[in-house]
Amino acid sequence: MKSLMMQGTRILATGSAVPNSGLSNEQITQLVDTSDEWISTRTGIQERRLLTGSNTSIIDLATLAASKALDKISMSPCQIDLIILATSTPNDLFGSASQVQAKLKALNAVSFDLTAACSGFVLAMITASQFLQSGSYDTVLVIGADVLSKWIDWSDRNTCILFGDAAGAMILQSCLKNNNQILGFQLNTNGDHYSQLCLSYKNNKSKNPVLGIYQGSFNYISMNGKEVYKFAVSQVPLSILKCLNSLNLSVSDISWLLLHQANKRIITAVADKLSISLSKIIINLNKYGNTSAASIPLALDEAISQNKIFNNDILVMSGFGAGLTWGTAVIKWKY
Ligand code: COA
Repeated sequence: MKSLMMQGTRILATGSAVPNSGLSNEQITQLVDTSDEWISTRTGIQERRLLTGSNTSIIDLATLAASKALDKISMSPCQIDLIILATSTPNDLFGSASQVQAKLKALNAVSFDLTAACSGFVLAMITASQFLQSGSYDTVLVIGADVLSKWIDWSDRNTCILFGDAAGAMILQSCLKNNNQILGFQLNTNGDHYSQLCLSYKNNKSKNPVLGIYQGSFNYISMNGKEVYKFAVSQVPLSILKCLNSLNLSVSDISWLLLHQANKRIITAVADKLSISLSKIIINLNKYGNTSAASIPLALDEAISQNKIFNNDILVMSGFGAGLTWGTAVIKWKY
């Protein structure tokens, strides 16, 4: 247990990884009845990356994103105390974080998965900050990684146009309170509406005659697009405003709005409701689609590498999606 004087969280580095294989809107027209024009205008997505090949998995993507973050600050993986892997598409239902720990050779890290779909990264980052601010751990690696391409019905045009595969990582460390970068957060869940966007387990029709139990498997993603759209556009601005209010900040203090990259129309509608200029919004979903838990750290890492983010910038991050879950974190950026 570290000293309780160390009550802040510093963000040391970010990293990201996407698969090499791309899938354009035009290529999707070979799978389902759709068009580049329909997908572009309704979602803003032009292409996405897919994890192909039988020998690569989410572990490779997550480990690569983490290695890139570690390399940026020349940190040894042995310095990591905790790894939180936010994913809803593990390669093992018992969890994938331990495989990332092994592949990364993060010999001193305890590791676990956190499942919260597209809100996963925000929830994992806030969870990490709690361990850091309580003094329990010194250095935490948070990874958001998803390979939803493996869970999509590629004959369902309602969903197959939206998603892509990626991983994004962030290294956080405890620090003195006056250097704290995670200023505040606001998190929400409404399980009553879980069925609007889900990837559910389903029993087979027949039961084991001796034991009386049913066994089954997971379905593909199913989504009520209109309801999910309405949920995001109504709830995300409220979460952002609540979080800002709790910190005595206002929309005009925001340097960058970094929303989960689900759909350009959702992002611009949220920006509209907040009356925030589109020039303050980070968007990269045109290239990657909705990469679920990876979308926020991927967009953040790209914005940093494009030198968009400056010292003392106020970043407002909001994740939203299946669960339903949604939440906001306000960050003060420091290099
Ligand atoms: N290509 C062409 N036409 C399509 C299509 C596709 N990929 N998908 C649906 N359509 C058709 C529908 O069949 C419907 O046709 P109809 O009018 O003849 O019945 C028409 O387009 C309109 O469908 P609708 O579902 O009303 O479209 P929409 O305007 O709601 O847009 C989404 C669909 C999915 C783009 C939109 O609802 C959305 O962005 N929702 C949020 C999804 C999301 O971000 N989920 C993840 C959150 S983490």
